Amino acid sequence: MTDSTPKTIDTLLTETRQFAPSSEFSAQANINSQDIVDAAHTDWQDWWASWAAKLTWDKKWDRVLEWDSPFAKWFDGGKLNASVQCLDRHVEAGLGDRVAYFWEGEPGDTRELTYQDMLDGVCKTANGLRELGIEKGDRVTLYMPMVPELAMAVLACSRIGAIFSVVFAGFSATSLKDRIHDQQAKLVICADATWRRGSILDLKTVVNEAVEQCPSIENVLVYTRGGDCVSAASDINRDVAWADLIDKQSDVCAPESMDAEDVLFILYTSGTTGQPKGIVHTTGGYLTGAYTTTQLVFDLKPESDVYWCTADIGWITGHSYIVFGPMANGATQVMYEGAPNHPGLDRFWELVDKYQVSIFYTAPTAIRAFMKWGDKHPAAHDLSSLRLLGTVGEPINPEAWIWYSKHIGNEICPIVDTWWQTETGGIMITPLPGITHTVPGSATKAFPGIEAVIVDDDGNEIEGAGAGYLALTHPWPSMLRGIWGDNERYKDTYWSRFPGKYFAGDGVKRDEDGNLWVLGRVDDVMNVSGHRLSTMEIESSLVAHPSVAEAAVIGMSHDLKGQAPVGFVILLGDQQPSDELAQELRAFVATEIGALARPEAIYFTPELPKTRSGKIMRRLLRDVAEGKEIGDLTTLADSSVLEALTAEYNQRNA
Ligand code: WTA
Repeated sequence: MTDSTPKTIDTLLTETRQFAPSSEFSAQANINSQDIVDAAHTDWQDWWASWAAKLTWDKKWDRVLEWDSPFAKWFDGGKLNASVQCLDRHVEAGLGDRVAYFWEGEPGDTRELTYQDMLDGVCKTANGLRELGIEKGDRVTLYMPMVPELAMAVLACSRIGAIFSVVFAGFSATSLKDRIHDQQAKLVICADATWRRGSILDLKTVVNEAVEQCPSIENVLVYTRGGDCVSAASDINRDVAWADLIDKQSDVCAPESMDAEDVLFILYTSGTTGQPKGIVHTTGGYLTGAYTTTQLVFDLKPESDVYWCTADIGWITGHSYIVFGPMANGATQVMYEGAPNHPGLDRFWELVDKYQVSIFYTAPTAIRAFMKWGDKHPAAHDLSSLRLLGTVGEPINPEAWIWYSKHIGNEICPIVDTWWQTETGGIMITPLPGITHTVPGSATKAFPGIEAVIVDDDGNEIEGAGAGYLALTHPWPSMLRGIWGDNERYKDTYWSRFPGKYFAGDGVKRDEDGNLWVLGRVDDVMNVSGHRLSTMEIESSLVAHPSVAEAAVIGMSHDLKGQAPVGFVILLGDQQPSDELAQELRAFVATEIGALARPEAIYFTPELPKTRSGKIMRRLLRDVAEGKEIGDLTTLADSSVLEALTAEYNQRNA
């Protein structure tokens, strides 16, 4: 591997290689006719209703769609339970012995859970939650590592109609507290610890710190993963051990029959302000979307495939493509707790080989790391079980795509580059592996039943080849139903920029063949290793430090992470810049938000480059951080600031 630097947009768009599906793959594909796709685009409501009908409903819906823009109701009047889709119906169909999860802990401990095991575990957990007084509509916050109990807890909440909200267990106590507070949760379910790169990582202390500031929390249910290694103080009135509460419960628990539009979960994601948005998803439409896309995009054959999505359940990818989509389809999955480079750089390939994984879904940032680690790691393992590969989270540079195809997919596996968002709930733009000619770097075309368009600054749709903003023209079942507690922000963020259309916040280009190339965010949101972070969130965290007067944060391109935050900081009068202080500020952000937000670098400056009207020119700061020639300075109030910063950059990188 010579160069893993993500190519600029222009280079990316000169990509002309096309890969047609093989005739063998097409012949067996779940979708191999363009006619079906065309019909779905025309009669999209019928298309989605036909897929919803494949779920198990207690009562069929009265109407497919009620669209009071921008508020949608899908399958209203229908009743169903999400955990029943994922568990009971498979067990009732005689598939109780099928493995749901091959789980592998980072230290190498393993567990195998069948659909029957998962159903029993979910029922016990649900009964335990009821014993703690959790009722339909109550909010439960989950802060757990990748253990099967996380999937169980998610499904147990959905079984009794409690609204769950998973917070990625890398977030700080402050971030956790803010989320618990926003949703006024009654219960936190957590683990005491997890394993990361050979060490035990204490989670309970983070939870203790957060919960102390959350009066709405009545109990903390603690699953033991670290055991004696963790000595976090516990509150005997508040904390309940998983083994004490759950193990003794009955493994029968009648599911709550939920309205299709009852809230299933809230998941927080960064927006353009300092305050994360609680994205709301409901039951019937979300499940329809997750179920359909899993089956068609991954060409899933539940009876024979072993599917592995390497995401964490703390992100939307894990919700839709580790829990609900694959489980509603009755898939057999691999779930892995730890880091991809522990104990060796080949851990993933060892697992693919060991479990005979046939479908593998990961992120471009991971693929770039694999490239850097070297070809010999995948080459050391038998990867011939693989038949399809996927990527998600950020644009994939063609070099990484080609490497993935060659070194992981043996140039046989189709690659599905899937574009979607926390808000969309499921995959929106993607190849269909049996029919689409893939192009490295392009997510190709909208999924059946979805219409993606490109609009210019004035909201005019661009036909044919061209570039602009990505928008979706009509509602879809798994779309967000709002932002928790803030309908105005929901309307403003997504539906006011181009009235009547969903504004995704991404730039996009369409080529002559009609393929879409998602170029990245057009707002102040950066994408760090496939995870969204807002510049505002990091800026407010820096400014909260007692030495800082003002801060500007930008996302600079980074050859592994895609983007990485860099902070430009003005110190308070009596403070002196130093390397120690820079380290302290980086660590401060990591404690305030979470390790993934830790700035790559901090620059101290007496001034920030501003326009004459006082707006910070982040574009110029990005040029500094990336060591580029500084762009157009004409609107800048004082250019000497940039000269000093550039000198500083040159000195650091000399
Ligand atoms: C980006 C992750 C290009 C995009 C499922 C989007 C992508 C944001 C792709 C959503 C892709 C995701 N190609 N960009 N295949 N997939 N993105 O909410 O900027 O964590 O708006 O959802 O990731 O990130 P989120």
